[in-house]
Amino acid sequence: MRYLITGTAGFIGFHLARRLLDEGHFVVGFDGMTPYYDPRLKEARHAVLARSNGFRPVIGMLEDADALTRAAELAEPEVIVHLAAQAGVRYSLENPKAYVDANVVGSWNILEVAKQAGVKHLLLASTSSIYGANEKVPFAETDKTDEPMTIYAATKKSMEVMAHSYAHLYDIPTTAFRFFTVYGPWGRPDMALFKFVEAIENDRPIEIYGEGQMSRDFTYIDDLVEGIVRLIAIPPAEENRVAEPAGIDTLSRHAPFRVVNIGGGQPVGLMTFVETVEAAVGRPAIRKMLPMQPGDVPRTYASADLLKALTGYCPETRVADGVAAFVDWYRDYRIAVGP
Ligand SMILES: NC(=O)c1ccc[n+]([C@@H]2O[C@H](COP(=O)([O-])OP(=O)(O)OC[C@H]3O[C@@H](n4cnc5c(N)ncnc54)[C@H](O)[C@@H]3O)[C@@H](O)[C@H]2O)c1
Repeated sequence: MRYLITGTAGFIGFHLARRLLDEGHFVVGFDGMTPYYDPRLKEARHAVLARSNGFRPVIGMLEDADALTRAAELAEPEVIVHLAAQAGVRYSLENPKAYVDANVVGSWNILEVAKQAGVKHLLLASTSSIYGANEKVPFAETDKTDEPMTIYAATKKSMEVMAHSYAHLYDIPTTAFRFFTVYGPWGRPDMALFKFVEAIENDRPIEIYGEGQMSRDFTYIDDLVEGIVRLIAIPPAEENRVAEPAGIDTLSRHAPFRVVNIGGGQPVGLMTFVETVEAAVGRPAIRKMLPMQPGDVPRTYASADLLKALTGYCPETRVADGVAAFVDWYRDYRIAVGP
């Protein structure tokens, strides 16, 4: 198949592209190589992808509609997977405009490209953050998501609702998946696992927010990619509406549009996570306890019922195994690129 994937120099896009290239697909990877975190890591990911004959990188910004159009002309995509975004909860307080530009304007440009290309399936990366501080757990896709706590979450919600309108108006089969704290090798330097391992290895304190009382539903990267690949094969349509369990499907009555969580439904307390990281690194951390930060939510917890009903699959990697795999990768990576 022919794919256009955005965000291939990023953590998730890299892993998805690598899997699809290994399966023999053709992938145009669009990425702006933004300086939000060390671009050397992004270059290194693209260098791995460039070893595959089927990979064509296009460097450009989502906000640049012409660059996106050129990428789509090169790809002639049957499927678009839109993963590029300004990610990160905390940075959205510092630089909200980056989120509106990339995630609202940029995502709208992707909708236009999908409309022009007449794709069989458009898939978009949304986030567990849009459940805000919901108290009902696990978070089901049918729950209210109108009370975002950050502009990051608000821009992702905007993307979802814009995509519904395009799915309705232009009959674009569209799946928005909501990811839950994805982690693993080649992971993001702004996320807790990377920061914790780096701090412990360098005898620096780790910062533990919310006095350690928060919990997160962690999803191992290979499990996430498995979920994405299975969902690619299931464009939303009446013939695949989930009848049982009743009421869980988010398939719209007005458009070929569906929202699906990809998460394991096994939240881990922050202090348990810290102990798991310490065990994997082989040393205790210096712990600096801090209050909750503005925009933080106390917990995330995915209902995986809809994912399971659609695909028969549910993430299964144990956090201890996934963290150990990250630490192995991190040490090799630091030797290769330096501090
Ligand atoms: N990693 C997680 O835990 C997680 C959780 C929920 C949702 N998500 C979503 O999944 C997607 C992928 O996340 P990730 O962890 O791989 O993040 P990432 O930051 O590693 O990757 C995003 C990529 O998009 C590119 N990019 C950013 N802004 C751009 C722009 N304006 N134009 C062109 N390229 C741009 C960056 O250069 C980067 O390579 C994002 O949409 C993110 O919001 C991630």
